[in-house]
Amino acid sequence: MCGITGYTGVNQAGPILLEGLKRLEYRGYDSAGIAVQGDNEIKMLKATGKVSHLVDKFEAEPDFKGVCGIGHTRWATHGIPSDTNAHPHLSADGKFAVVHNGIIENFAEIRAELQKYGIEFKSETDTEVIVQLLAYNYKGNFKKALMKTISRLNGSYAIGVISAEHPGTIFAAKLSSPLLIGVGIGENYFASDITALVSNTKDVIDMDDGEVAEITPDAVKVYDHSGNEINKEIRHINWDIASAEKSGYEHFMMKEIMEQPQALKATIEPRIRDEEIVFEELDLDMKKFNRVHITACGSAYHAGCVGRGIIESLCRIPVEAEVASELRYRDPIMDDKTLVIVISQSGETADTIAAMKECKEKGATVLAIVNVVGSSIAKLADYCLYTWAGPEIAVATTKGYTTQVALLAMFAVWAAGQLKTISHGAYASMVIDIMRLPERAQRALDLNSRVKKLAEKYYDNQSLFFIGRNMDYAAALEGSLKLKEISYLHSEAYAAGELKHGTIALIEPGRLVVALCCYEKLFEKTVSNIQQVKARGARVLAVAHEGNRSIFQEADDVLLVPQTDPLLAPVIEIIPMQLFAYYVAKENGCDIDKPKNLAKSVTVE
Ligand code: M6R
Repeated sequence: MCGITGYTGVNQAGPILLEGLKRLEYRGYDSAGIAVQGDNEIKMLKATGKVSHLVDKFEAEPDFKGVCGIGHTRWATHGIPSDTNAHPHLSADGKFAVVHNGIIENFAEIRAELQKYGIEFKSETDTEVIVQLLAYNYKGNFKKALMKTISRLNGSYAIGVISAEHPGTIFAAKLSSPLLIGVGIGENYFASDITALVSNTKDVIDMDDGEVAEITPDAVKVYDHSGNEINKEIRHINWDIASAEKSGYEHFMMKEIMEQPQALKATIEPRIRDEEIVFEELDLDMKKFNRVHITACGSAYHAGCVGRGIIESLCRIPVEAEVASELRYRDPIMDDKTLVIVISQSGETADTIAAMKECKEKGATVLAIVNVVGSSIAKLADYCLYTWAGPEIAVATTKGYTTQVALLAMFAVWAAGQLKTISHGAYASMVIDIMRLPERAQRALDLNSRVKKLAEKYYDNQSLFFIGRNMDYAAALEGSLKLKEISYLHSEAYAAGELKHGTIALIEPGRLVVALCCYEKLFEKTVSNIQQVKARGARVLAVAHEGNRSIFQEADDVLLVPQTDPLLAPVIEIIPMQLFAYYVAKENGCDIDKPKNLAKSVTVE
């Protein structure tokens, strides 16, 4: 996600801003930039790629001087990663520069309006409208122009603005995006994230929605949405840099598990209008296809297995899911009537890219579900839907997976609507359940302390099984992978009904079997499998829907998760499994964020 920072004081702003941007690097980004006020003009430097590229540019510009400035790391949303789309953005008259974290939902409308007045836009970003509108509204009073500008903005923002005509002054404003002011002596700061501040000051002001800060070297004034000055408390923090980067969590994995409600919301909400699923980016005629083929690797493949169930169930079209490393060498049968869905968090997985090229050569249409904007898969696909999960740092994916499943479900409902294979009532009910996923994910996270206790009870099981049927089986695949990749314990996911065909031989007294029981249509069947493993001495930890009483008679331990449509259950039931994997790995002293032998993005075969 984007990060913003700013400085005003007596020292050169450039090195301070660059240091702040380095601190924000962990969040993930694709480009960076800084702007300073100097000699009555605004000077800017931008670079695609690493902050170190920006540092190189800065070091080659000895005249890049100024004691007040703003900086930004960009995670592309509107427009590809490029120097032009990188922040800061400058107004056409060169008087103002802005950095922005968030999304301006009504940018197209404002942009069209300003273009009518002859204002030329340089970038593809939503952000540029802020600075152009500000310059348009400016009649000599910086604060007034800013207040007028933000009153037009819908969506979310944390912004920092400087003006060539107001040396030493920064305005910062916030709505639904984090913003902190750092208070120093003779110098002040702002940032979207505590990490960019803690090495300079530990005294901060937490900005609330609708507030605007006027920051000068000697003072910070905060105004409410009507422009009246208000008193704000200064909070002293005692975080060190390392903990700040993880927002106080011990590991990125836990931070990302906890971010899932927000990631789901960001992925789902912008695509639902008037209770309908709208994919502006998808001009696709589903009637053209007689089959769907899903391909991906690892957890993304597991998301695909869930997607197969949802699409087949709602669209009544044959769907296959296959790991990309197999598909690429299998000479699969497909043609121009095949829709291939490739799924990838990073958008850079080598096997997935190769499989997708193979499918394209065979004439298939490729739709990508990707998290990283502008990644290779996003660019190569015919169509692309982004999960808006934000950067994922931990090697074990969590919010990447749940947002992929949510987006696949939305696609399935959208496609079923087009194919008329879903009734109005079922469509409306799925949309409601999809919209409620963030809140239900939040409630599933409330199981945190209970899951921790269960992990403390079971962490020394050297070999585990995850079982389930139908959608539960698809979720079991992911639950098992999560556990094995970070705890290094042997774990297998099995279709519950398949156990008796051989694997049940491995069940012995004390063996832990995690039984996923949210697919209620087949609940009784899964219960009989639970009884079979219990009869052989296994201990059973069951995950079932709230309200399920009978499961307590079958399992040794039970985790109840919020009820949702059975097709969506994997999004919710995986959450306690992610927590379980996390705590088991912790109990076993494993390196949770960087498990041995694994890489975040597998860009080689
Ligand atoms: O970036 P991708 O989604 O394409 O990555 C695919 C897999 O490498 C990835 O899901 C991997 O399985 C993770 N370690 C799972 O946590």
